[in-house]
Amino acid sequence: MSNIKSYHERIENFDWKIAEKELDYEPGNVINIGWYCSDRICQMGKADKPGLIWEGSTGVEKRYTYNDIRINSNTIAQFLKDLGINPEDRVCLFLDKIPELYIGFLGILKMGAIAQPLFSAFGDESLFIRLDNAQTTAIITQKKHAPKVRKIMDKMPYLKHLIIVDADPGKPLADREVAFDLAKAGKVDHFDIYPTTAESPSVLHYTSGTTGQPKGVKHVHYSLISQYLTAKWVLDLQDDDIYWCTADPGWVTGTSYGIIGAFSNGVTQCVLDAGFSADNWYRFIQKHRITMWYSAPTAIRSLMKAGEEVIKKYDLSSLRHLASVGEPLNSEAVIWSERVFGKPFLDTYWQTETGSIMISNYPGMKIKPGSMGKPFPGITATVIHPETYEPFNETGKIGLIAIRPGWPAMMRTYWKNEETYRKKFQNGWYLPGDRSSIDNEGYFWFVGRDDDVINTGGHLVSPFEVESALLEHLAVAESAVVAKPDFVNMEVVKAFVTLKPGFIASKDLDLDIMNFVRKKLSPLAMPQEIEFIDTLPKTRSGKIMRRILHAKEWGEEIGDTSTLEND
Ligand code: WT7
Repeated sequence: MSNIKSYHERIENFDWKIAEKELDYEPGNVINIGWYCSDRICQMGKADKPGLIWEGSTGVEKRYTYNDIRINSNTIAQFLKDLGINPEDRVCLFLDKIPELYIGFLGILKMGAIAQPLFSAFGDESLFIRLDNAQTTAIITQKKHAPKVRKIMDKMPYLKHLIIVDADPGKPLADREVAFDLAKAGKVDHFDIYPTTAESPSVLHYTSGTTGQPKGVKHVHYSLISQYLTAKWVLDLQDDDIYWCTADPGWVTGTSYGIIGAFSNGVTQCVLDAGFSADNWYRFIQKHRITMWYSAPTAIRSLMKAGEEVIKKYDLSSLRHLASVGEPLNSEAVIWSERVFGKPFLDTYWQTETGSIMISNYPGMKIKPGSMGKPFPGITATVIHPETYEPFNETGKIGLIAIRPGWPAMMRTYWKNEETYRKKFQNGWYLPGDRSSIDNEGYFWFVGRDDDVINTGGHLVSPFEVESALLEHLAVAESAVVAKPDFVNMEVVKAFVTLKPGFIASKDLDLDIMNFVRKKLSPLAMPQEIEFIDTLPKTRSGKIMRRILHAKEWGEEIGDTSTLEND
């Protein structure tokens, strides 16, 4: 039996109060995600239930019951409070997928500060842009990532503490640096949780746009209402589930469903902090008897590529329910998973800004492979004309996805960027910036993004950020960055570069530029290909026309080039 019962039944008479009631929340009361994800689960009689089973790259395992999660998050909350961190201060988590990341997230929320998770593979430039925008007060990191922070420390007078969770004992630390070892810290059994209410800020996630710097998406504690219920109805989390969300909490899936959705539903969740390999993933499922698996199309396509022989080596019969998010899930992947695992991956669609699943396939619903499914009960979503912003009268038309604002996990603003936030709304709709059509049975079919942002392996990369980094390289005069098709990652970053006088294109220069971007930004943003060209296509006003380069990569019609300077 799935949690959602019947989709039709749920959609009629839907009210978010269903989640409020299940969580014993009354409007106006205190609501703290940290408490709901640990203390409350203990109060419900699950204190000794395993909440987090963690496995590192060397195979070492750590287990935490819900009571351990409660006490350890208290301990971190108390430590931050004693350091002098105030409610609503931004505390950045710059960590691999280690237990401190999951438990630290809850600790930050318990003491009323705002959790700012950043992907641990970020280079110093990516890091600085996001910390500077947020005026972050403290960073929690590991000694292996600390050098990247130290490199930019001088530019960040607002950053008061660099907290290192695995510092070498006895080794002196620099000014502003402090060691905190969770395993050795005196445990705090009781912590007075900061009385956050519905609109108190909780999480600040950075997401990339086409132009300008990344935007800080501000979420609030009330987001729990959507995250809890969507995890229950779409991911179908049930009491005896062993859940595995493969996403990194540096990105929104890893927090909304890798922390909040999972722990607020009181399931046992497993985390694998190791690089991808088909063998290792299947072994992990077999070892922990994973029942619910939430992953991403790129991972699924990588598994497809690894073939079926490797699957036969493992017992994957524990799998009960599979779902996917982050990029288009092609129908082949759905059909393949049904054949090899006996279960299709159910596609779910949402984004950093929406905070929770918006459109998806549901357990028990007819699955149309390649379709994203239907809006979550309580979500009004449609497709509108890109100019009139009016819904189409007929089905099958391609337009912009539009969602009626007002669900609990909706972002509240872009940090210090109210103007860009306001532009996301038109004619009473929130526009995620994606194109889709709807068929005659109400299923959504994703078409593409409505901007130049590159979605590589489910991660958004801003062409602007990569172009800016490229321009800092000694040899680069101009650059234009576009997506290039790729079987596994769907899109990868490709850069077109013109060189400054005196520089000559070569394999060495190519590698040097790639590495330069990887170090400054991240491995995701590193161009997989650099094409040196003499001139870039520009409009008469001098704007680089990415559209033309993009069309060339995808073998598409170039379209109107009337404003082109050098055709
Ligand atoms: C963008 C959001 C929310 C989880 C991680 C990504 C694309 C997301 C799907 C899907 C096609 C999808 C959209 C969206 N996207 N899910 N099921 N099918 N595209 O969060 O980094 O904010 O990216 O990813 O373009 O707007 P994000």
